[in-house]
Amino acid sequence: MDNIVLCGFMGCGKSTVGRNIARKTGKKFVDMDSYIEDKAGLTVSEIFDKFGEDGFRDMEHNACKELSQLKGLIIASGGGAFTFERNVSVFKGKDTIVLLDVPLSVIKYRLRNDKVRPLLQRPDKDKAMQELYEKRLPIYKNAADIIVSGKNTPMKTAFTVIEAVKEAKI
Ligand code: S3P
Repeated sequence: MDNIVLCGFMGCGKSTVGRNIARKTGKKFVDMDSYIEDKAGLTVSEIFDKFGEDGFRDMEHNACKELSQLKGLIIASGGGAFTFERNVSVFKGKDTIVLLDVPLSVIKYRLRNDKVRPLLQRPDKDKAMQELYEKRLPIYKNAADIIVSGKNTPMKTAFTVIEAVKEAKI
């Protein structure tokens, strides 16, 4: 089976929903950020500090290439991964790309106490999130094969994704 790759903004639930899909389907779950962290022996924040965002994006691109070689995985991508055409083209046509679509207000609420995401550790966090969200949403939509609302519980969203992927393949 091809991989199911979840994409979407930080806080849309890619990792939690991905774990639920894996549990329900018996597939293996891979969190792309954790994969990068394990390879680098550093956290995402440490990678940003040490190598800058560009360094992180290169590692992310390598992770996309490596993971796309594997089969049958449920992959939670990092929120920036699918904003780069070079990563979209690694998965497009081979794996099923699913956008978890969540309104900005919900994302803002979910990430209100975030202390780990490097892009959100700034005094103008709210404004920065809004700008990034508006810029990225059309890019995610364009990359996705399937768009699913991620507003519900992770369990319900996981079920919706599984059904939508099945339907798309019929
Ligand atoms: C990023 C999202 C993060 C992580 C890194 C950059 C982004 O992943 O890859 O902090 O550019 O949106 P999550 O979407 O899992 O938070």
